[in-house]
Amino acid sequence: MNHVLSMSPTARQRRLARFDRPGTMVGHTPVLHIAAPFTTDDRGFWAKLEAANPGGSMKDRPAVHMVERGRARGALRPGARIVESTSGSLGLGLALAGMVYGHPVTVVTDPGMEPIVQNMLRSYGADVDLVTEPHPVGGWQQARKDRVAQLTAADPGAWCPNQYNNPDNVEAYRGLAEELLDQLGAVDVLVCSVGTGGHSAGVARVLRSVNPDLQVIGVDTVGSTIFGQPAGKRLMRGLGSSIYPANVDYAAFDEVHWVGPAEAVWACRTLAATHYSSGGWSVGAVALAASWAARNNPSGTTIAAVFPDGPQRYFDTVYNDDYCREHSLLGVTPPREPAVINHPGARVVESWTRCTSVVDPTRAAL
Ligand SMILES: Cc1ncc(COP(=O)(O)O)c(C=O)c1O
Repeated sequence: MNHVLSMSPTARQRRLARFDRPGTMVGHTPVLHIAAPFTTDDRGFWAKLEAANPGGSMKDRPAVHMVERGRARGALRPGARIVESTSGSLGLGLALAGMVYGHPVTVVTDPGMEPIVQNMLRSYGADVDLVTEPHPVGGWQQARKDRVAQLTAADPGAWCPNQYNNPDNVEAYRGLAEELLDQLGAVDVLVCSVGTGGHSAGVARVLRSVNPDLQVIGVDTVGSTIFGQPAGKRLMRGLGSSIYPANVDYAAFDEVHWVGPAEAVWACRTLAATHYSSGGWSVGAVALAASWAARNNPSGTTIAAVFPDGPQRYFDTVYNDDYCREHSLLGVTPPREPAVINHPGARVVESWTRCTSVVDPTRAAL
């Protein structure tokens, strides 16, 4: 029988949804079970495929929610400009929100933004403002923040959603968590990458209210400061930071995994080759940590991993042999077990490493 016809009426309605406005297409993303070769028996994990959002990533959720809340509070006046710093995904969501609610959008970014994203942003009607030099201490992120401050100071009506500190960025993910509960029932282990901290905080909060024993694994990149490592060179984009975002809910995490770019490339390409479902750096890193969790928990444990986006914008990096060769990212098969450190300040990590002591580096002496 045709698979769609064999679904329940509710599932069929979701699958064949009809939308009258583009903003309402956000959310209701599928989950896919990921197993071999990441695991060797029936154990696996569920990947929440956020690439199915209209802008191609989970960031459509906070973009639309922050704009709606900003308008409801009167902080964002009708027709006023939205200005935000982003490496791309949130910008695409803001372009959608700006179109739906009638706001011009300026996306402040750096030369690392892939041309495909810049072109799509412009096609969606957004202005792309590129900073050309990193800040000497806070890197590209601080340079972008400074540029946003400059642009908003010059335009008194302009509004910056400030995804790093805005609690609406966290609250925006309530829907994602509720979808997971509908799709999987109570979740035992949640695996999320961390950039602004928004989705890990928002999803963990709701899932933990249903299962207080929920284990949360945070996934970061090597060279990121978020979990107490020193700032270093970062090839991986999306996850990680060179500043300390206020939205990171440190208390929510049971452990953190740092992943290196070659390991993420292996995971992305293996996902593509075995599950026809992959994505960018954060997807690869999350898949690595989630498959470790699947191998190290009893059969029957429900593990949910958020895959923030799809592969398209990484065609010239993760999926490009020349790029990967140039950065020595090919031919690395990650170990089955990560290295372990007992404190984030123990040493500088350069490849997949886990740590069960999670501390807020802005409060703890490392
Ligand atoms: C592709 C991708 N992965 C992961 C993240 C991290 O998510 P969050 O900002 O909710 O911590 C982001 C954030 O920009 C992203 O764009």
